[in-house]
Amino acid sequence: MKIAVAGKGGVGKTLISGTLARFYARSGYRVLAVDADPAMNLAYAIGIPFEASSKIIPIAENTALIEERTGAKPGSAFGIFFSLTPTVDDIADKYGVIGPDGVRLLVMGTIRSGGSGCSCPANSLVSALIRHITLRKGDIVVMDMEAGLEHLGRATARGFDALLCVVEPSAPSIETAIRIRDLAYDINIRRVIFVGNKISDQEEKKYIEESLSRFGLSVLHFIPFDQCVARAGRLRVAPIDYSPSSPAVLAIKELGEKLVEMLLG
Ligand SMILES: Nc1ncnc2c1ncn2[C@@H]1O[C@H](COP(=O)(O)OP(=O)(O)O)[C@@H](O)[C@H]1O
Ligand SMILES: [Mg+2]
Repeated sequence: MKIAVAGKGGVGKTLISGTLARFYARSGYRVLAVDADPAMNLAYAIGIPFEASSKIIPIAENTALIEERTGAKPGSAFGIFFSLTPTVDDIADKYGVIGPDGVRLLVMGTIRSGGSGCSCPANSLVSALIRHITLRKGDIVVMDMEAGLEHLGRATARGFDALLCVVEPSAPSIETAIRIRDLAYDINIRRVIFVGNKISDQEEKKYIEESLSRFGLSVLHFIPFDQCVARAGRLRVAPIDYSPSSPAVLAIKELGEKLVEMLLG
């Protein structure tokens, strides 16, 4: 099962990606969590301590690796040849960092241009990597994306079973979600699943339901606003470790179960 998580900045993509990764790992799946957001804070939501996460070199900044695999130095002038199909199958194992419950984290780093793909060696390596993350039975890949679908070109998106689009009860987040839905369809991801986060009351829930239903869309699952999550963030502790039975964490667990049922059941 390979899922990407998208949505407007701040809606809760990282919280959901990291917490899902932990739950899946606990239920026995081999989990690869991919941080494809330039903000690079998935490590915290997984519960990887700062001392370890601060040492991670993102793939897009690993000049030695990029040169080794693509045959060109990052930032080298146009016209220099580099491989568009670098060998990547060992990278997740070699460069992934192991977190709690055995979740493996791979940090991509900042990739500059759009889905059509900027021609630079770093992008070439990262897209090949996302494209070729292969799955064995019992593997789950969760990719925390930046707001848009910047690095999901058509080829890169192939192989994703679903795009989880997170919304909060605000008009801008709904607008972004619709844009993401359109982009996902353009690159052939047919299954876009909507999740409402930071829900404080029925009114907010209804707002999201009604806003999306105008586009013929429905919401798979809601996650409540949860002070424990906010507090965990201030303390830099993964919410699943700080408050394993708080309402938002439990709701994400339920979301994870629904996804498995939908996509694998
Ligand atoms: N259900 C929730 N309840 C309370 N705070 C939340 C909830 N979901 C996310 N947050 C907080 O909102 C902020 C943004 O969440 P984050 O997961 O980093 O969003 P994104 O990755 O989409 O930018 C964080 O400070 C996080 O702690
Ligand atoms: Mg994030």
